[in-house]
Amino acid sequence: MKFFAPGRANLMGEHTDYNDGYVLPFAIAQGTTATATMRDDGMLAVSSRQQAGQEASFCIKDLAPGTVSGWAAYPAAVAWALGQHGLDVPGATIEIDSDLPPASGLSSSHAMECAVALALTGLTGQDVPRMELAKIVRTAENDFVGAPTGIMDQAASLLGEAGHLLLIDCATLRTEQVPFAGRMLVINTNASHANADGGYGTRRAECEEAARLLSVTSLGSITDCGITVALSATPALERRARHICTDDNRVRRVVSLLREPHGNVHREIGELLIQSHASLRDDFEVSWPQADVTVDAAVAAGALGARMIGGGFGGSVLALLDPSGSFAEAAEPVMAAVTAAYVEQAWPPPAFLEAVPSQGARRVA
Ligand code: GLA
Repeated sequence: MKFFAPGRANLMGEHTDYNDGYVLPFAIAQGTTATATMRDDGMLAVSSRQQAGQEASFCIKDLAPGTVSGWAAYPAAVAWALGQHGLDVPGATIEIDSDLPPASGLSSSHAMECAVALALTGLTGQDVPRMELAKIVRTAENDFVGAPTGIMDQAASLLGEAGHLLLIDCATLRTEQVPFAGRMLVINTNASHANADGGYGTRRAECEEAARLLSVTSLGSITDCGITVALSATPALERRARHICTDDNRVRRVVSLLREPHGNVHREIGELLIQSHASLRDDFEVSWPQADVTVDAAVAAGALGARMIGGGFGGSVLALLDPSGSFAEAAEPVMAAVTAAYVEQAWPPPAFLEAVPSQGARRVA
């Protein structure tokens, strides 16, 4: 059996997921496959075309956090988390392949985890509701891999639909498919990142502290961003809280623009992307030099808006393009301008892909 799980991009709402706010991601066309066969010795054997020579196998019942390191920790984490959630985990041999660039902020690790989760449940015919599976993958990522990430990436990969953005209310985990016909370009800045590294966890802890000082259960519950001035004695926390509140409001604004479309919707959404990037750069302080240069060059070359996506400290930028005309007509000047800006800085060249909201994870053979 062969399963595919896509990577994701995100139109709006960054770092809002673990603050019980809103996010608006989508599954992209690129992703990861897991080709699985059942075995009866209780072992999980994994190999990856991208990690040649680093095959691994382990006894499923002996898995525990800290027992597996390197790339194989991701599939092992999923097998462990499925068991923690009371599901039957069969012995299996799984071969992984992917066309997602690693560490590009397109959620390659979650795509692998989602493909493995579908494979291990699919082999035994267990049809787990997709949001439940997303929560299991979150357990795998948080408690086994040790990356304190939220629910956005797995939910986008598992619940994405072609032609739609996925609105997630992370407080209730209610979702809504929002039709979107925009043209989008992902620009991989080729500056890599890792969510298990310190920066992401530090931001998460700062948000929890800001919520505690503001006496709210989570920053996502704030809609009046003015109240963050109560944190002025701790300016960094004030900035963190302001980013979460303003980005959360921007998700709501994008969705209301899309619900009542009028002539300039894409231009207005583009402006919101630019604001979001400034907020991630100045208030949340998770941007990086290549992302800032990319956003400026893309907008100067005619993109309606652009912003970094994902956890930050490396990865990709999403640019919203003019929806009239062909993708190539809109994308080419942006790609040329960004490439030229990297040459000027003597940085390794960026890479580009069209971001098309695509169908989520599924069995493919
Ligand atoms: C990473 C995490 C997500 C989310 C984003 C930032 O991609 O996996 O849960 O927090 O960063 O929005």
